[in-house]
Amino acid sequence: MKKLLHISDLKQKDFDDIMRYSIELNTTKENLLSNKNFGLIFEKNSTRTRLSFKVGINQLNGNYIDIRFDELNLNRFESYEDTFEVMSCYLDYLIFRTTDHNKLELAYNFFKKPIINALSDKSHPCQAISDLYTLKENFGTINDLNIIWMGDMNNVLFSLIEAISFTKNTKVDVFTDKEIYLQNKDIFNLNENTNFHFDIDESIISRANCVMTDVFTSMNDKEDKENLLSKFQVNSKIMSMTNKNSVFMHCLPAKIGSEVTEDVIKGEKSIVLTQAKNRLVAQKGILKWLNI
Ligand code: CP
Ligand code: NVA
Repeated sequence: MKKLLHISDLKQKDFDDIMRYSIELNTTKENLLSNKNFGLIFEKNSTRTRLSFKVGINQLNGNYIDIRFDELNLNRFESYEDTFEVMSCYLDYLIFRTTDHNKLELAYNFFKKPIINALSDKSHPCQAISDLYTLKENFGTINDLNIIWMGDMNNVLFSLIEAISFTKNTKVDVFTDKEIYLQNKDIFNLNENTNFHFDIDESIISRANCVMTDVFTSMNDKEDKENLLSKFQVNSKIMSMTNKNSVFMHCLPAKIGSEVTEDVIKGEKSIVLTQAKNRLVAQKGILKWLNI
């Protein structure tokens, strides 16, 4: 049974197929999802992921049903087992954004059909796939790139680090707070192409093809990390350390003035809108992979 709870659920061939389908479906129309019903549960806010999945399903002629988590009988006394087993009697696929990754695992255990993580507190695989698609579109390759990540160790970084295992020699240099690193290093699936730094180092940043960041405090975070991470803000000084072909990326939504300054996110190196647009392209690649 196919699932995409983490990038590590994919094999190299799955990832390559998703990239290829994304490229194909960007220019051609297919009736792939006729008579297929997707359940969409968004327990947390979403603009891009929700809309790009809905539009992607529409463009491939499928149907989606919005399921409001707070309206399910799960919130009264019904179990996860009964809730998700019953859902699989009606639905073909489930797309689920949740506050707690364990809920996604529970859903996977009882929903008898394919399931996609639309973001959990732990990972955001659809974002990582889409971001590698954007890098390929921009640089012509996903290999031999130097990605600089500035700020928090969160769900988006977790999936990015997993996803670079599908590239050849692309590296992620993470600039973060040491306490945050110590709290997270055993939770992350780190690999040899990921390195951590706790102070700004111009010699490393100067090699960047791409500088990436995300909010310092994510939806699920209990503590505010703004002060802890302020020295890792992406501003014009950081971008000026990079070469002339480098780009700035952010999954959005951005807290302008916090993790990134306005001149950078609106500046000539920023490709955040292309990145957002490509969420739709990559979702269709994921949907095709799921349905084959
Ligand atoms: N990047 C992203 O997942 O955005 P949304 O939270 O708006 O879906
Ligand atoms: N890390 C962010 C990503 C939002 C798309 C969050 O979880 O809030």
